[in-house]
Amino acid sequence: MSAKIISGTETAKAIREELKVEVAELTEKHNIVPGLVTILVGEDPASQSYVAAKNKTAHALGIHSEQVTLDADTSEEDLLALVEKYNNDDKINGILVQLPLPKHIDDNKVLTAINPDKDVDGFHPINVGRMVLGEKCFLPCTPHGVLELLARSGTETSGAEVVVVGRSNIVGKPMVNLMLQKRPSGNSTVTVCHTRTKDLTFHTKRADIIIAAAGVPKMITADMVKEGVVVIDVGVNRIGKAASGKAILAGDVDFDSVKEKAAAITPVPGGVGPMTITMLMKNTVQAAKQAAGLI
Ligand code: GUN
Repeated sequence: MSAKIISGTETAKAIREELKVEVAELTEKHNIVPGLVTILVGEDPASQSYVAAKNKTAHALGIHSEQVTLDADTSEEDLLALVEKYNNDDKINGILVQLPLPKHIDDNKVLTAINPDKDVDGFHPINVGRMVLGEKCFLPCTPHGVLELLARSGTETSGAEVVVVGRSNIVGKPMVNLMLQKRPSGNSTVTVCHTRTKDLTFHTKRADIIIAAAGVPKMITADMVKEGVVVIDVGVNRIGKAASGKAILAGDVDFDSVKEKAAAITPVPGGVGPMTITMLMKNTVQAAKQAAGLI
């Protein structure tokens, strides 16, 4: 059996089309233009390209977007002052500070300074708490994208054995929480594995759904999964450079072998990656609607 490919590229495109219509309606009927600011400190090339992609996507959907790039030696105080400026700017509904920040800046201090109602990344402790409690909040973009991929690919999660590999604050921990919640795309029995897990294969072999987010290229191989598993590969690992200079990417899953056993699988690239930016746009539209009292 060769797996059905769950295309993040196609799913993200469909969601962006829906958002485009929603933004146009907000603008025409309510005179609301959702606004997003991205703040980048330093010149990390990967961060530069992520931020550029976020602004390009916002623009394409009719979302007002501002991009601020600061020198790598910007002080924490100046960054906090900039965040505060945007907290008080009515044109801006979403504030995204691109991570990682330079070492002299405390990530937590900056993320906590963002108004939780503008925290479209869903990283503020208030939004994390709301998420864990199942309350209305901004869901972190990558796990939010995984939920959409599961829902839109018709994957049954209720009662399913879900194994999450990885325990980062950005993906693993929120993913575990979301999958066990009493709601569509949840209601799963969830196991979380990580670098100290003694027998990873014991767990992955039992899984109906594997969500791989460990950051280790091709670590999940065909012998570690059961026939008919659904595999969502969150890993984006740069494993080399093509002659063109473009990075060669690999997921956390050995796609070529696992696809022969899986019922469905996301590719890398073209799987979870395109979903993350799209969910940021969805969160920005949600923020604008909340600010206007529409939801
Ligand atoms: N760096 C890598 N991924 C992310 C993300 O989702 N949000 C932010 N703010 N920074 C990132």
